[in-house]
Amino acid sequence: NVTAPDFAERFVGTAVSEFKGLDILINNAGYTWDNVIQKMTDEQWYAMIDCHLTAPFRILRAAQPVIRALGKAETEAGQRMMRKVVNISSMAGLFGNPGQTNYAAGKAGIVGMTQTLAKEWGRMNVTVNCVAYGLIKTRLTGNAAEGGTAHIDGRDIKVGVNPDLMAAMERGIPLGRGGTPEEAAGAVYLLCIPESDYVSGQTLVCSGGLTGF
Ligand SMILES: NC(=O)c1ccc[n+]([C@@H]2O[C@H](COP(=O)([O-])OP(=O)(O)OC[C@H]3O[C@@H](n4cnc5c(N)ncnc54)[C@H](O)[C@@H]3O)[C@@H](O)[C@H]2O)c1
Repeated sequence: NVTAPDFAERFVGTAVSEFKGLDILINNAGYTWDNVIQKMTDEQWYAMIDCHLTAPFRILRAAQPVIRALGKAETEAGQRMMRKVVNISSMAGLFGNPGQTNYAAGKAGIVGMTQTLAKEWGRMNVTVNCVAYGLIKTRLTGNAAEGGTAHIDGRDIKVGVNPDLMAAMERGIPLGRGGTPEEAAGAVYLLCIPESDYVSGQTLVCSGGLTGF
């Protein structure tokens, strides 16, 4: 659970002990818990902010001393090794989406965090970018009629999208369909390979050509 207060330290510590370093960090864990603002509880609000904003903040804060030490040692040895952070945002964070005040706020916040850390961490040879998804066909956006739930942070959260709504959304996408998980991962991959070593502080929209809702 990324929202556990001690998660960040354990996560970074495990990466270092298991892999002897920390080269690529992706803040991806997330879910939605929708409601129109007049019905949204504080619990719903904080659940989204905790997962989509506070958890990445804590993870990146915990990673900084490790990355700084690794970068310093490499610089002293005359080497330059680029490291990569990719934070996962959403078109809801860029353009808003009805029923998602909480989620959109978190996903917009991670864009600001990304832009700030790109400036703070550039000297450590770290690129910090975002990928903002449109509609990707995952558990999150599966068939709501099948009654899927995800057990997250001690709660059972309904997942899925109404199939009629899903079909209408897909018709609005220039490529005519939602993306696959592999296509979603491809956008992250682009920001992790050496060819993107001079790209930082950017938000790459992975949406099949959709540019707004
Ligand atoms: N699927 C889409 O259309 C879409 C669109 C925009 C953004 N996103 C974002 O993409 C990311 C991945 O979502 P997905 O579509 O693959 O959904 P998914 O439900 O298939 O996968 C998300 C994963 O995150 C995990 N997770 C959620 N909360 C967690 C927590 N507190 N601690 C640890 N793990 C947690 C879930 O258990 C799940 O394994 C999320 O950040 C989501 O908001 C997805």
